This record gives sequence, structure tokens and C-alpha cells, in this order.
Amino acid sequence: MKGTVVYYSKWGNCEQVAQAIERGLEESGQDVSLVEARSVQGLGGDLEFLVVGSPTRVGKMAGPVRKFIKREITGDWSGRPFAAFGTKMGSPGEKGKPESAYDINRALTEKGLEPVAGPFEATVSGMKGRLTEGALDLAFQFGKEVGEALRGQGLSV
Ligand SMILES: Cc1cc2nc3c(=O)[nH]c(=O)nc-3n(C[C@H](O)[C@H](O)[C@H](O)COP(=O)(O)O)c2cc1C
Repeated sequence: MKGTVVYYSKWGNCEQVAQAIERGLEESGQDVSLVEARSVQGLGGDLEFLVVGSPTRVGKMAGPVRKFIKREITGDWSGRPFAAFGTKMGSPGEKGKPESAYDINRALTEKGLEPVAGPFEATVSGMKGRLTEGALDLAFQFGKEVGEALRGQGLSV
């Protein structure tokens, strides 16, 4: 199945997470590319799934990702599968804090897309990082999980 990972990153943490998720998707047999949110100009019509991620900005996704969703996710994406991820400060597994992955999940669900897994959140230990230990392994696993869920839907490559 053909899809893309779209992300924004100011200090490179969310980018590393996006790359690890891309590797996990590839590992599970998906045909996936990686693209920075501001450089997307027209998602190819042959894309079948989307994975979108952002650093947390005051409990929400960052502006470039919000703009990407507003600009690029048109009605014909309705019903297609997606997964959301994000980076945030805090402890791994900490729940209940508003953050980007859930904001993206909500925005894409409102556009009619169907979540296949997640959302996935990776934590950074300070404003500019670094990612907490094990975060990239978990991101890789998440990519695999998304890839396998896509196959489970009968949408395999
Ligand atoms: C203006 C601003 C607001 C932020 N607000 C939050 C927040 O509400 N919650 C949080 O956990 N982290 C917050 N952060 C920290 C970011 O989540 C962190 O810088 C980011 O995840 C690092 O990823 P990046 O290197 O890909 O940019 C904020 C950072 C900035 C610059």
C-alpha cells in the first residue's frame, strides 16, 4: 500500500520520530515516503494512507501541520486510513495532557479519515530535546503496528 509520513520539526526530534516510523512501515511491507509539512504541494492522487506528526505547541499541533491539513486534506481523503503521532515534553506514557498527536487525530477524524492505530506520542526531556531513551524504538514499533493494521484491513501491498 502506498502512503506518506508528513511531519514538522523545529529542533529535529519529531523528524527523527517520523524517520523511525517510516522505517517501521517499510519493515511491514508498505511503500512509504517522508515529507516535511511545509513542502507538500498536492498529495499524489495514488496515495492510500497518511501518517501525520507534529511537535506539541501549547497542547496542540504546530502551525505548519495545521496548515497542511487545512490545505491538502480534501474531501476525497474521506474514509482513507491514517495514524497520528507527536512529540511532547514529559514522562513516557504520561496521559491526560493535551498534545499534538491527539489534536491531529481529532482534526483528521473530523475530515472523515479513519484511524488505524495510535495516536503515538514520543517524549522529549526538554524544549529542544533530547528524545527520551527508547523513544525511537517505540516509534519504529508504532510504524510496524500501523503497517500491519493496514494489511489487516485487507489493504496490503
Ligand atoms: C512555543 C512552544 C510551545 C510548546 N508547548 C508545549 C506544550 O504545551 N506541551 C508540551 O509537552 N511541549 C510543548 N513544547 C515543547 C515541544 O513539544 C518540543 O519543543 C518539541 O516536541 C520538540 O520537537 P522538535 O525538535 O521536532 O521541534 C512547546 C515548544 C514551543 C517552542
